[in-house]
Amino acid sequence: MLEQRNPQLNRNGELIHLLSIDGLPREVLVQILDTAGTFLSVNDREVKKVPLLRGKSIFNLFFENSTRTRTTFEIAAKRLSADVINLDIARSSTAKGESLLDTIANLSAMHADMFIVRHGESGAPYLVARHCAPHVHVINAGDGRHAHPTQGLLDMYTIRHFKRDFTNLTVAIVGDIVHSRVARSDIHALTTLGVAEIRGVGPKTLVPGDLREMGVRVCHDMTEGIRGADVIIMLRLQNERMSGAMLPSAGEFFKSYGLTPEKLALAHPDAIVMHPGPINRGVEIHSDVADGKQSVILPQVTFGIAVRMAVMSNIAGISA
Ligand code: CP
Repeated sequence: MLEQRNPQLNRNGELIHLLSIDGLPREVLVQILDTAGTFLSVNDREVKKVPLLRGKSIFNLFFENSTRTRTTFEIAAKRLSADVINLDIARSSTAKGESLLDTIANLSAMHADMFIVRHGESGAPYLVARHCAPHVHVINAGDGRHAHPTQGLLDMYTIRHFKRDFTNLTVAIVGDIVHSRVARSDIHALTTLGVAEIRGVGPKTLVPGDLREMGVRVCHDMTEGIRGADVIIMLRLQNERMSGAMLPSAGEFFKSYGLTPEKLALAHPDAIVMHPGPINRGVEIHSDVADGKQSVILPQVTFGIAVRMAVMSNIAGISA
């Protein structure tokens, strides 16, 4: 029988694409987090640049909206001294019917070294990776409801920064888990890093059936779900991926699953509150929590730059 090779790794087990955290060895994950730690100080320098990707052309291809991921990838690539090209998809020939693979073929003819791909269709970055020349690398910046590996990695960096060790932690992931690529990437990363307990908290309509098989304790009651938690990861309602009414109303959702100061008081007193953004105040999170002293939502964004620098520079053979 033919051995199924992980398309993200070369024969030496080195990273050539980043498509998903699922199947990434622990050493690769830890190496990225450690490298990110060394890049954090670059952000504080007067000249915020290192020459690792000088002369490389990195194409940002965002077929779906983004504020944090697109911008921090651009900053990260520039801090590594790469040339960054942001394709404006709405004004590109995609609008004239050009296929994804034809777009990739044409950008490859412009000597692209790396594609950062966000797409509404799960699996689109895999398709791109399969059709690229061997020297071209692909990073998944979020595909459908499947995976958002760099968000997963920056979430792990944030948890490690504030909590140091993963093995004693209880992490609660709350809200619209069924449509969340972030939840899936976080669960794979937390499992690989040996977290003690992962809880998935939400109404039956928003918690996927396979969560228990992933080793997650499912809680439909918010009080039970966040009691004693060390880390709370809130998720927004991803209305753009919902077909039909999955909830009575946003107000009802907030009453049952919105994180308020009263509910947060049930968690560990040192619990941190995370959110991948964009946040919807008064829907999944109260403003007093989002802006409160336990919130690490904005540090997550800052760490995202160093983590994305680490991912890009850890790709085998890319660095000068
Ligand atoms: N967390 C995240 O993916 O945010 P953006 O959609 O703004 O990139």
